[in-house]
Amino acid sequence: MLAYNHGKGSLENWLITETEFSPDALGKCESIMYLGNGYMGLRSATEEPYLHEVRNLFVNGTFNRFGGDEVTELPNLADVTRIDLRIDGERFSLEFGETKHYLRQLNLKTAELTRSFDWISPKGKTFRFRFRRFVSLDRLHLIGMKMEITSLDSPAEITFHSGINGRMTNSGTQHFHEGEKRIFDKRYLQLLQRTTESNIDVVINAAHRVTVNGEEIRDPVMAIDRRMVGLTFRLQLSPGDKLVMEKLATVYTSRDKEFDKPDYQLAKLREVSLQDLKDCVKKGYDALFQSHCRAWEEKVWNKYNLNVDSEDGFDVLALRFALYHLTVMTPAHDERMGIGAKGLSGEGYKGHSFWDTEIFILPFFIFSNPEVARSLLNYRYLGLAGARKKARENGYEGAMYPWEAAWPEDGEVTPVWGAVDIVTGEQTKIWSGFIEQHISADIAFAVYQYYTVTGDREFMERYGYEMVFETAKFWASRLEWNEEKREYHINDVIGPDEYKEHVNNNAFTNYMAHFNIQLAITYYEKLEKENPRRLAELEERLALRKAYEKWKSVIGRIYLPQPREDLVIPQDDTYLSLKTIDLTKYKQSKKVGTLFQDYNLEQVNKMQVSKQADVLILLYLLEQWEKKFSQDVLKANFRYYEPKTLHDSSLSLSTHAILANDIGEYELAYSLFRRAAEIDLGPFPHSSDHGIHAASIGGIWQAAVAGFAGLRLSGGKLRISPRLPKHWRRMEFSIYWKGQPVTVSIDHSALIVKAERNEPFELEVCGKTYTCKDQLTIHIDPKN
Ligand code: BGC
Repeated sequence: MLAYNHGKGSLENWLITETEFSPDALGKCESIMYLGNGYMGLRSATEEPYLHEVRNLFVNGTFNRFGGDEVTELPNLADVTRIDLRIDGERFSLEFGETKHYLRQLNLKTAELTRSFDWISPKGKTFRFRFRRFVSLDRLHLIGMKMEITSLDSPAEITFHSGINGRMTNSGTQHFHEGEKRIFDKRYLQLLQRTTESNIDVVINAAHRVTVNGEEIRDPVMAIDRRMVGLTFRLQLSPGDKLVMEKLATVYTSRDKEFDKPDYQLAKLREVSLQDLKDCVKKGYDALFQSHCRAWEEKVWNKYNLNVDSEDGFDVLALRFALYHLTVMTPAHDERMGIGAKGLSGEGYKGHSFWDTEIFILPFFIFSNPEVARSLLNYRYLGLAGARKKARENGYEGAMYPWEAAWPEDGEVTPVWGAVDIVTGEQTKIWSGFIEQHISADIAFAVYQYYTVTGDREFMERYGYEMVFETAKFWASRLEWNEEKREYHINDVIGPDEYKEHVNNNAFTNYMAHFNIQLAITYYEKLEKENPRRLAELEERLALRKAYEKWKSVIGRIYLPQPREDLVIPQDDTYLSLKTIDLTKYKQSKKVGTLFQDYNLEQVNKMQVSKQADVLILLYLLEQWEKKFSQDVLKANFRYYEPKTLHDSSLSLSTHAILANDIGEYELAYSLFRRAAEIDLGPFPHSSDHGIHAASIGGIWQAAVAGFAGLRLSGGKLRISPRLPKHWRRMEFSIYWKGQPVTVSIDHSALIVKAERNEPFELEVCGKTYTCKDQLTIHIDPKN
């Protein structure tokens, strides 16, 4: 059972609480309460083991391919969290005995996980337990843990085993060669692992400090075995005695930037990581935790300054949950790494990056932390090598970005086989890696959005232009000439709606390809004027003049599906002529994908039913570049497609929430926002088993800021057209516009925009253009 109202006073709407332990739904809290810092992610499995637990520790970027038919994935590192505890010889587990006052909490403010309860053992003895854990935001390699056990009424003998366990797999796949194991000074444990194919060294160190009533317990029994190293402590507790165990661990890999160099030496990695642990041990859990809390305050809460005053505290908590996860999932420290579709919270999607990053997550960073946005775009720049390879292999020019990306040079890593087909019993082929091609234009869109918001010319000249030119080249070579219609088509693709495979002229793909080429033309001409020398350098490597001429010759002849008489834009050539079925049962289902209990994908391909926003997300993105379609077109498409969209992908709800607000369906907008937040925070016990939904979490921020606050690009300009939900009294947040911090406050009668450096800028509010010089107050008509 999850509860969100346990935080009182200064902790109000900061705590995610599990009030009852549920051994049958472990995945939920393991995922939504996972800890991390972008360098690593630690799934929140409990210390004592349970049958269906999933214990994960991932370090970003450490991809390994096991071989055979498997694709590369983030390997599950050795575990440091498990503790096997016996009390008077009985195994400690919440499945035995009786548990009282159980609470497991993730404190979003301090990014600390705690668990506390009283446990009455089967022999009738009562103990008070408290566990604490954090993954440091200021020391990226550090995991801190604490366990406290107080005997409340009886003497007891406690033994526990704790260490580093390398017997971990990714659902059975073992990614490591066994490495050396050591125990130094009966205190410092070290375990080495090396990935089987990518040859990445991992060094994990751990140290324990165990006390009873403040007195240290020494001389544990040391154990080294296959893929594990650990210590067993044995001690006696009298009634009232308190056992405290502090366990600190450091995690380092040869992929870390400071080690991934030609002069790399494993010995050095071992030494540095062990020394780091020793330094941490000197400070101890409490001091380390304090500096971690300060980092959260400075780098996250004070920086983003996102405050909502809502009658429903859940809204506030959901937004904090989003900022928490956006921070822990993002490798802000290293531009060679992207964000996985499940962050670093589970094995789902193997740590791979999708368009989820550019379209759903990046807008948050572009507006709120442009440096991190730049790093994420650099990851795609480094990915050009793999994208060029994919284009070449498919007979195209330029850069064709992989649908799923891992290490930048890997190129396409989408698996080829997926779920079972309920009709044939065979494995379904995953076509996305071959024909879901819009990702290349999505990345170009992200470059456009980043540049427009930040004005970062240096980034563009070094990286951005090249990405836009190379993707435009891909599209120009991808277009297919239709002689009969005398226009270019894009056939045989999957658009965002993955329930339609092998379609021709998916509107999203065609428009985005058109946008990508148009953007390349605009940028080419801009660069020609602004920095002809840089253009000449690029010309030398990329043969741009020829490409430019090609873009100019194709741009006016790309088929762009137009609104029909009823203003509906066809999702693709056949969608609107497919049969419709009654979707009520599936729309009402709390579970996603229930359609597949009745139909297989081939059948679903022949129905007007969409997995996720497709034409609608196109309208949302396109408006940021140019105002092409009227409000009536938006309304007509929303009303046509929303009833046919099952939101079976978590990426979908936030876009519909934003657009519902745009067309004045305010209650629907709020309920879609709420449903988006409930994908991970809702009561469904298994929705997050494979990990959190990173894009949907970016979508929570977008639904609030781009949706309710109405802040986004519009025709290349900044617009803020707020319309808060009725029960939100106020909202405020900080963004950056062209490098200047800007504070925005909104209530139902006014919008206040403050230029923190007094640099004037233009913005559009509810259709009118204003200049903000220092502070601008605009009255909003609440009836409007
Ligand atoms: C969605 C894609 C998304 C992927 C990863 C799929 O279910 O259809 O749009 O990129 O999940 O989140």
